Parts: sequence; structure tokens; C-alpha cells
Amino acid sequence: MSASERALALFQQHRRAAAPAIEDGWLDLLGEEDPTGAHPGQRLMLSSVLPHIYERIWRPLGARLLMGAAGPDTREEHKIALDMLALRPGESVLDVACGPGNFTRNFALAVGDGLVVGIDASETMLARAVRETESTNVAYMRGDACALPFQDDAFDAICCFAALYLIDEPMRALDEIVRVLAPGGRLALLSSCNRGPLPAAVADAVVRPLSGVRIFARDELTGALRARGLSDIEQRVAGFAQFVSARKRKLTEGGA
Ligand SMILES: C[S@@+](CC[C@H](N)C(=O)[O-])C[C@H]1O[C@@H](n2cnc3c(N)ncnc32)[C@H](O)[C@@H]1O
Repeated sequence: MSASERALALFQQHRRAAAPAIEDGWLDLLGEEDPTGAHPGQRLMLSSVLPHIYERIWRPLGARLLMGAAGPDTREEHKIALDMLALRPGESVLDVACGPGNFTRNFALAVGDGLVVGIDASETMLARAVRETESTNVAYMRGDACALPFQDDAFDAICCFAALYLIDEPMRALDEIVRVLAPGGRLALLSSCNRGPLPAAVADAVVRPLSGVRIFARDELTGALRARGLSDIEQRVAGFAQFVSARKRKLTEGGA
């Protein structure tokens, strides 16, 4: 069975029936729909140029800006993601807003014959991801992080790096991420984090109109995960960024 067929088997019944054929190496669940926001910083993710320079130039530079000179470099970021997700061979992983597959490909190596699904709204990013991915256990799809097509509890681990701050309704995306994460499953997030004297709402009101990037308050994401019942929530702040890991409780575990 191909990776795309294995991914389709994880779809909700009604989404499976409506799923179109796989074209250009990914499954297009959006057609004419475009969940990317209207801000130029968000529209940029659809550009045909960005994916060519994303991994080598844009992403490392952006990370430096966000995390500062002392923050983790690309190699360390990959290690952080793998540590937070604690992947084991045979597991299923969802990379939400996977971009050109820069993290997706690493997850594919970590899970052996397991399955990795990368979902993103941008055709040009996905085209690059497909081109750069050799592993046969990876499926890509064009879809909205706020309306994931998967059944509840479908994935052992979920990553969403450098994207929640660009998604128009990040809390809806978090709802969906938590819904499709299996009990006991691990979650890894990388997003913005407010620092300094200004309250997050003020910093956001200044930064978002200029860049399209939402500024999360320091406890906003950890609080949102707690409110959604996750446990083992850990936050590592680096400059104006935060890495957050968490685990979905098993059904036998109580607590809120
Ligand atoms: C900065 S890239 C992050 C890529 C990769 N995860 C990384 O860490 O480098 C942000 C991605 O979020 C995607 N994106 C934005 N809004 C989205 C949405 N509503 N659903 C799915 N993907 C979305 C964009 O298309 C873009 O590829």
C-alpha cells in the first residue's frame, strides 16, 4: 500500500469518500479553497519563489531573527523536534503546515516503516516537498490545519513548527491537532512568544499588521493545551520564539 493510501485510511469516513485522486504527488483537499490569510506575510507562503530559498536561506534567517543569535540553529531545531516527539519505528506522525517538508523528511527516517503525513495549504511548498522527499513512507496533502480530514486519535505524534502564528485561527488548528492526536501521543509546537515590556496584545497589534505574524502571549499556548486536557506541558523560550511539547492523556489517566 502506498503512503497516500495509508494516509487515506486514517481519514474520517465522509472525508475519505470525498477525497480526490492524488495528483502531482499530493492529495488536494482544497481545490479552489484557500485558507491562507490575506496579509502579504501569509500570502508569501503561496509564492513560487519562496520554496526555492526557504530551507537554505529564509528559514534559517527567520529563525535567527525570532530566536536571536544564541537560539538553536537548524540542526538543533531538528533535534529538539525529534526529542519532543520521541518517535519510535512504526509510529504515525502528522506534520501540520509542513511547508517544503524540511521537518517531515526527518520524521520519515525516524519512524522506519511507520507513516508520516505532511499537510500544508500551499501548492508551491508542497511541490517542493514532493520533489525533495525520497522516503516512500511520506504522504503529502493540501489541506487546512483548521479542518483536518483525519479520524480522532489517528496519530502517535504531531508537529506544528513555525506555522501557528501564520494561521488565521490558531486555536481552531489546535482543536484539530488535539482531536487527531492519539491518547498518549506527543505534540511539538514552535511559535512566537511575547517578550519585553509590552503586553502581548499590544505587541501583536504592532507586529501582525507589519508581518502577518501573530504574537502569542507567553502562557497562551501552554494554557490552551492545558485547557484542552493535555499533560506534561513543557515550554522552552528562545528569544521571541517558544518550543512547546505536550502529551495527550491516555483514557485510563484522569485529571484535567
Ligand atoms: C513558515 S512555513 C513552516 C514550514 C515548516 N513547518 C517549518 O518549520 O519550517 C508556514 C507554513 O504554514 C502554511 N499554512 C498557513 N496557513 C495554513 C493553514 N490554514 N493550513 C495549512 N497550512 C497553512 C503555509 O502554507 C506555510 O507553508
